[in-house]
Amino acid sequence: MKNNIIIKPFYAIIFGGDGDLSKRKIIPAFFHRWLDGQLDMDFEILCVSRSIKEEKSLKRELEKFISRTADSSDNQKNIDAFLKNVKLINLRNTSTNEFEKLSVIVNSKKEWQRIYYLSVPSGAFAEICNILKKKKLIQANSKVVLEKPLGHDLASSNLINATVLSAFTEKQIFRIDHYLGKETVQNLMVLRFANHLFERAWNADNIDNIQITVAEKLGVEKRAGYYDKTGALLDMVQNHLLQLLCLIAMEPPSQLTPDAVRNEKLKVLQSLRLFDKSTVKSDVVRGQYTRGNIAGEKVNSYLENIEKYNSDTETFVAIKAFIDNWRWKNTPFYLRTGKRMKKRYSDIVINFKAVQHNIFPESQHEMVNKLIIRLQPEERIELVQLSKVPGPGGYRFKPISLKLDFVDSFKSRMPDAYERLIIDILRGNQTLFMRHDELEAAWTWIESINKNWLKESRLVLYESGTWGPGDEILDGDAQWQTK
Ligand code: BG6
Repeated sequence: MKNNIIIKPFYAIIFGGDGDLSKRKIIPAFFHRWLDGQLDMDFEILCVSRSIKEEKSLKRELEKFISRTADSSDNQKNIDAFLKNVKLINLRNTSTNEFEKLSVIVNSKKEWQRIYYLSVPSGAFAEICNILKKKKLIQANSKVVLEKPLGHDLASSNLINATVLSAFTEKQIFRIDHYLGKETVQNLMVLRFANHLFERAWNADNIDNIQITVAEKLGVEKRAGYYDKTGALLDMVQNHLLQLLCLIAMEPPSQLTPDAVRNEKLKVLQSLRLFDKSTVKSDVVRGQYTRGNIAGEKVNSYLENIEKYNSDTETFVAIKAFIDNWRWKNTPFYLRTGKRMKKRYSDIVINFKAVQHNIFPESQHEMVNKLIIRLQPEERIELVQLSKVPGPGGYRFKPISLKLDFVDSFKSRMPDAYERLIIDILRGNQTLFMRHDELEAAWTWIESINKNWLKESRLVLYESGTWGPGDEILDGDAQWQTK
């Protein structure tokens, strides 16, 4: 999308610049925006690292990751040209003296905006922000980007926010949730608010239930230390799934300004029904994967992956949630996410109610429509409706889909979520970033699960390569939609 806010020359200072996220997502995202001509101003990306001492080794590493995402024939030339803008800053520790190295560089071009990207565990945020403040490295046009998870509960998240807010103003803080940068996710707003058709039916009168699934084939990979302290509820639901839920459930904002959009999302989060001991037992399922088989390949259990004999951390969670407001009264929102599932896919399924009166009594199928919004791996929207099977002799029905496939329709490369978000940060547009109060409301709801769950429920084991547990939380005839 063209946007005429001009991006000013900038320094992007990435703490954790040699980390996995930076190599896989952040730096390649800068590369692609540069390749597309969107970064035609002066800029420097300063990768802050503790372990890498030589700029050459950093660049070799980055080159490997960038070329995995680039497909043009003159790749190498472009990558080399882009990497001229990348510098290494080796900080042995976060002491004031060490920060002098950074200070000298950024103060040589005081008029450039500074983007401090904290791609490090949130336990380090306070220390970094305090030193940036002490060394007077924060200017009015500086910004700070915070990667999730922000803390591990409401109190720790509030503490982190308070420290960051003592160095930066709320307008300078970009709390990133990469799901909001995905093309299909952004398209949700267009689907709902730029088309007349669906919005009329978008309510409890017409919709039976809504399902949001984010299924992953991968296990915990090399993140055992992080994951075992976090689990699926905090790693995926607290942020990504709740943000999807907000976009599906929110009221139309009066305009597309950051605060108008975030105010509506906040109202959804604040209307989420809190869990108690009894509902956490009936409406929340947590699971952990055991050994299994995925696409013909044997895979280990979670405990084997993390090399522990015992752990209560969940790698799967399914929740029946309710939004207590006028539009969604008593409509179940089924949220489900898990690792080591049969296939990787994420989608949102809007299950409409059956027709009020069935004049085709011999039909085998329930008369329902579904709108399936597939976020990944393919990006498409599908409207499932019943159709008559051609031929004489009565009515036989078959569900058929009207499909809108984004890649076919637009024939263009789908940018990675980080590309969009990085440009928004550089332009100062906070619409797709979480505000402090949104985070607080999300934590309040998550805590109502966590506090009650610990006492009331047990972890369910599921075999890798299956769809996991969770059928028992579904009401009536509802079924999980699987790919
Ligand atoms: C991250 C989680 O935020 O999202 C990971 O920490 C998860 O555990 C990842 O694998 C999923 O993102 P995507 O874009 O691949 O669906």
